[in-house]
Amino acid sequence: MAFDPPRPGDERFMAAAIRLAFRHSGQTGTNPSVATLLVRDDGAGPRIVGRGITALGGRPHAEAAALGEAGDLARGATAYVTLEPCAHHGRTPPCATALVSAGIARVVSAAADPDPRVDGKGHRILLSGGLSVTRGVLRADASSDLSPYLTRHALGRPQITLKTAISADGRIGREGSGQVFITGKIANGQTHLVRSRHDAILVGIGTVKEDDPGLDCRLPGLSDRSPRRIVIDPDLTIDPDMQLVRTARRTPLILVAKGSAEPDKRRALIEAGVEFVACDTVPGSNRVALPELLEDLGAMGLQNILVEGGAAVAASFIEADLVDRLILVRGEIEIGEGGIAAPIALDEAKRRFRQTDRLSLGTDLWFEFERRA
Ligand SMILES: NC(=O)c1ccc[n+]([C@@H]2O[C@H](COP(=O)([O-])OP(=O)(O)OC[C@H]3O[C@@H](n4cnc5c(N)ncnc54)[C@H](OP(=O)(O)O)[C@@H]3O)[C@@H](O)[C@H]2O)c1
Repeated sequence: MAFDPPRPGDERFMAAAIRLAFRHSGQTGTNPSVATLLVRDDGAGPRIVGRGITALGGRPHAEAAALGEAGDLARGATAYVTLEPCAHHGRTPPCATALVSAGIARVVSAAADPDPRVDGKGHRILLSGGLSVTRGVLRADASSDLSPYLTRHALGRPQITLKTAISADGRIGREGSGQVFITGKIANGQTHLVRSRHDAILVGIGTVKEDDPGLDCRLPGLSDRSPRRIVIDPDLTIDPDMQLVRTARRTPLILVAKGSAEPDKRRALIEAGVEFVACDTVPGSNRVALPELLEDLGAMGLQNILVEGGAAVAASFIEADLVDRLILVRGEIEIGEGGIAAPIALDEAKRRFRQTDRLSLGTDLWFEFERRA
């Protein structure tokens, strides 16, 4: 395939398209949130004549929306697409075909689509339609936003982000003390923003018993972005009076439990709106087998999951090498005697993962890492 090199201005328009795609991030089901900008230059400089983002729920695709907005102005325009256009027929023709039919002259793409139904075929349709195609412009930036989708295709499971708040003396809580507030208002707001960008939040039953958490997104204007809550509870020991159960009709709650556990209680929980996923346990222990669990959650359409603890569950994800992204938030307080050790210390995180960000949020420090390639 003969691709053309990038031209001046390509990065600027692709950066704008990537920002646009971010708007529907986490809200497009099993489809990635992709954006398209249609740009034409009739001699007075480039101007955007069409914009599209993958619609909420995943359809229609961004290309269709941008072509609809541009109408006849699409003819001869350049299309900036954050992901290779799709090549497969569904209820609508493939986006690559739609771009050719609309008379687009040039397509600039960022990330490649690993979906076997696309995987280079989208680019091929464009080239055989006589369009100029440039690929890989700002690929790393686009891939970072598309990483839940790319991870699901590459690894066959949802992308896992582990987030832990750590005290100044390396603890995450205190045995038998309920929830210990380690971080301040700004970092907590940032946590809620991160929650809104995930399909689910997962914790162990130890955390539910100790903290009775809500695990929702409480930012003004974003409360409808609260993801599903998942609790690992193999023996179904959850107290039905816990906040998570009481709010299950408003924000879905999925309990991961053995199929044989507590049949009467299960029935009552189902009546309260709770959903169940059956689990395997690791032979010789009562621990849920995480790779199999993630396979099942992936099959339910979850693309990314935020693991928020507690200590045992976080340690299991790290041990099983299932952490793709790690967020550590270091607060100022010291927990001291009776404190529960963090599942991973900051120094160890810096050795094992690649640091991608560091923010000062009030008096707290927010570190982001990702898996080393
Ligand atoms: N600072 C933070 O960011 C943060 C966040 C959340 C929680 N916390 C704190 O963490 C504490 C709770 O931690 P925790 O370790 O007691 O509870 P946890 O990790 O929430 O849950 C542990 C429970 O899950 C069960 N389990 C089943 N499968 C498992 C698996 N594959 N891996 C690990 N556990 C599995 C364990 O069963 P078995 O006992 O049979 O092994 C155990 O009963 C609380 O004090 C809470 O405040 C802190």
